[in-house]
Amino acid sequence: MTPVTKETFVIQGLGGEKKLRGTVEVNGAKNAALKAMAAAVLFDGPVTLNNIPDTDDVHTLTDILMSLGVKVAKKDAHTLIIDASSITSTDIDANLAKSMRASVVLTGPLLARFGNVSFPAPGGCVIGTRPIDLFLQGYEKMGAKVTLDEEACVYRIGSPTHPESNMSAVSLHGTEIFFNLQAVGPTETLMMAATLAEGVTILKNCAMEPEIGNVAEWLSAGGADITGVGTPTITIRGTGGKLLSAKTVEAHPYVAIPDRIEAGSFLILGALCAEELSIHGCEPAHLESLISMLRGSGVSIETDSVKKVVTLRNLAKNKKDMPASLPAIFSAFNVRTHEYPGFPTDLQAPLVTFLTQASGESLIFETIFEGRFKYVEDLQKMGANITVMNPREIMIKGPTPLSELPDKEELQAHDIRAGFAVVMAALVGKGTFTINNIHLIDRGYEKLEERLRAIGADVRRVG
Ligand code: UD1
Repeated sequence: MTPVTKETFVIQGLGGEKKLRGTVEVNGAKNAALKAMAAAVLFDGPVTLNNIPDTDDVHTLTDILMSLGVKVAKKDAHTLIIDASSITSTDIDANLAKSMRASVVLTGPLLARFGNVSFPAPGGCVIGTRPIDLFLQGYEKMGAKVTLDEEACVYRIGSPTHPESNMSAVSLHGTEIFFNLQAVGPTETLMMAATLAEGVTILKNCAMEPEIGNVAEWLSAGGADITGVGTPTITIRGTGGKLLSAKTVEAHPYVAIPDRIEAGSFLILGALCAEELSIHGCEPAHLESLISMLRGSGVSIETDSVKKVVTLRNLAKNKKDMPASLPAIFSAFNVRTHEYPGFPTDLQAPLVTFLTQASGESLIFETIFEGRFKYVEDLQKMGANITVMNPREIMIKGPTPLSELPDKEELQAHDIRAGFAVVMAALVGKGTFTINNIHLIDRGYEKLEERLRAIGADVRRVG
């Protein structure tokens, strides 16, 4: 069970009225920023990372890097300067890594640069939980030896010519790796590892998420030779141990792309609760699957790829602006989560909240992660008609009003995105709602309550 923390959100629901209005600025993508922070290890000096969201996951990775001896300075709220030349250890701290699975990406750059790394086995020594098999198989194919220290529950990964604790040059070699499934973490981590390897690495059946390209472009500016990012096959010609140039990237500093999951979350919220909402600083092309589904359901959305704005209108100011087909209520549809450019698993929970208010029956098939329906119980308690068919499929019948829980019972944020889904449900619901565990929401959404208040929501952080 998720531990309960003191801080909560107290939300006054809008009772189904579409009252929010205004503009939301999107932050830099957390899932790109974290990888760029890890990739900073590949450089020979300090590098500047811009548009980094000020979220808890970024703070945790900062702590992990600092625990290895990396210097991380905060230039301002959204700019980090990372200097890995002072690294003293390649043993990733078990406690810190436990709180953030994404820290596994650090193994790639550390192994590539120093020839060894240790990482806590995810889920302790329980085999089968949170697999990292694709990372380990990849490292082995590149010539590293992987051992599980069962006593310490730690994986030790070392390239044979540079045994543990020898913090010197690399000896990973290029190879061909076919991923049995398209996975983001293994794609970007092995890409980073291959950057400094000897020879050419060809990664096949790669994930194509835009965050991978965002980091790859920056590495290329620093001297990496990476082609094919954004396609299923990525080819990396390794530098043979030569670090990437911090000096060269001064002219092309890293800038995190807009967070498509954050933009999508606000878009879904707007469809349910806003009269009019503009989402600024986003990349409409990265939101295609969501926008297509919402439009199909009857939501009126305009995109401007040049200005990087998506605008949603539930009420037109005058007849001229009123889309002929604007329905009184949106219609239900089925969703199957999918690797990019398909519908992202990270928007599954927010979209389910939307579908509780849509007319008809929706089937949701979660293909990427199991166990991503924990929040459903909270929505059911509020009145949603959702049937859990199995750990990967649910059925929603809508619309059903969502209401305050009896006896002051509180709602839970189960993870970052499920947390947002419950916040949305509270906003669309009738009554007053308290949501616990909001530190999980803070992992991915910066100052959420302030941004919601700015568009008219009644949300307070208490505790
Ligand atoms: C990243 C995102 C996360 C998003 C996910 C899918 C970050 C920090 N997180 O997570 O928000 O939901 O992509 O878009 O960027 N798998 C294996 N073996 C492995 C690695 C993964 O079987 O060695 C499986 C996972 O259990 C999962 C699937 O592959 O079922 C996808 O994982 P992956 O794409 O790697 O997700 P993450 O990188 O963890």
